[in-house]
Amino acid sequence: MLKATDWDKIDLNLAPPIEEPMRQYYFMKKAREIVAEESRKLGRRLTADGETFGCQMNAKDSEKLIGILEEIGFEMIDDESADLVFYNTCTVRDNANQRVYGRLGLVHSMKKKNPHKRIALCGCMMQEPTVIEKIQKSYSFVDLIFGTHNIYKFAELLVAMYSSDRMIIDIWKDTDKIVEDLPAQRKYPFKSGVNIMYGCNNFCSYCIVPYVRGRERSRNPKDIIREIECLVDDGVVEVMLLGQNVNSYGKTLDEPMSFAELLQEVEKIEGLERIRFMTSHPKDLSDELIQVMKHSRKICRHLHLPLQAGATRILTAMNRRYTKEQYLELAQKIRREIPDISLTTDIIVGFPGETAEDVDETIEVVKAVEYDNAFTFIYSKRTGTPAATMPNPTTDEEIKENFDRLLKVVQETARKRVGRLTGEVHSALVEECNEHDNTLVSGRLSNNTIVHFPGDASLIGKIVEVRLVESHGFYYIGELQ
Ligand code: SAH
Ligand code: SF4
Ligand code: F3S
Repeated sequence: MLKATDWDKIDLNLAPPIEEPMRQYYFMKKAREIVAEESRKLGRRLTADGETFGCQMNAKDSEKLIGILEEIGFEMIDDESADLVFYNTCTVRDNANQRVYGRLGLVHSMKKKNPHKRIALCGCMMQEPTVIEKIQKSYSFVDLIFGTHNIYKFAELLVAMYSSDRMIIDIWKDTDKIVEDLPAQRKYPFKSGVNIMYGCNNFCSYCIVPYVRGRERSRNPKDIIREIECLVDDGVVEVMLLGQNVNSYGKTLDEPMSFAELLQEVEKIEGLERIRFMTSHPKDLSDELIQVMKHSRKICRHLHLPLQAGATRILTAMNRRYTKEQYLELAQKIRREIPDISLTTDIIVGFPGETAEDVDETIEVVKAVEYDNAFTFIYSKRTGTPAATMPNPTTDEEIKENFDRLLKVVQETARKRVGRLTGEVHSALVEECNEHDNTLVSGRLSNNTIVHFPGDASLIGKIVEVRLVESHGFYYIGELQ
């Protein structure tokens, strides 16, 4: 980012630069003047609120948007009564979309009472043309809409929004551009997500993500390392490397590099204590990665390995490109090489044509792998994906029954599995004071399980040794050693 003296050099009387990120610095300076002027008129600081729907990728994008808002003078608050509200949307399942429409109804009534209020929409849902049509028609009070490919332009878009009475819409179909060196706020001072790649090329037949996040592109390893080094200088001890399929990292770089090689570079960063990553596609998980994890001091003992379905027939229709047997073999290999690892997964129930027998096969895999946790979803039809046109003879009631049957097994196995460390002493990164009981703090084990134990705010951000005294299903109660 720029130093104070560099900001002085930006001349707003000149035309904006073409090159990024210089262009955005220019618009940040301009936006700062607009925000200052609006604040003067109101007689107080302008406030902003960002609401995030969806995955860690979206959460990371929101941190970038908030970084820009703070840079240009907004005071961030956690309240939709703010002068500017942005919704960073998700469209992976229909209920995510419905939640956004619900919230829009709420802010509309607020805007009627407070006409200077501005509303911005961004994120995955905005990449769908039908959504834009609907917002133009039924939610015309929205001031700004942009997509997933141009969030780096937020300052420029805000300047356009404050200079116009009309709805500003800027959606790009795709991009090959990655803009570095923009501000970002961090939710936690001691841990941070770090994008290593954007987009997805897998086209699982149920999934909208490749359509709304564009083609896969990897960040340059030097930029990733530099960002993590800066984060560590700033107090971060744990990073989560983010990508829709981290195992295919580096394939599109001018000098290709594997994800395992990247991890080894990240491991060398002094002061960094823990490395996590999300998400791994089973078809691309290499032996090299397993070996690097096995011998690493810093890579956490947790792997999220989405299964999606147990029956090979369904996996094929999903275009997952592995069979049930291949998945089981992979899980066994990982457990053999790294016995203390915890495995978690995502499962979809109700994919078109999935029968109760198919779900039995999913249950069989859950029992065999013994996941520490599994996120289970009911299939949601996404228009434009291949699965949307596949017939589904299974009724909603049958799907619900299958879902409940699976959930029961998932919970039973997880409870048994998570409890296996009872009595042992493990390192935990203390993340926060407990919401319900302020004599307790909550920490995260390397394997991602949470432990609550007596302590105070001074422990936050520290890695401490904790005895895991009692297991309560998905978490432990412990004591500091
Ligand atoms: N890239 C990640 C997943 C991103 S989406 C991966 O491949 O693992 C997160 C999860 O949402 C997916 O793993 C899947 O289980 C679920 N999901 C995606 N599309 C869905 C749909 N149409 N209906 C229900 N669940 C879906
Ligand atoms: Fe969606 Fe599949 Fe890509 Fe994951 S790997 S984002 S499930 S298309
Ligand atoms: Fe949702 Fe977009 Fe993530 S659709 S799950 S926010 S990539």
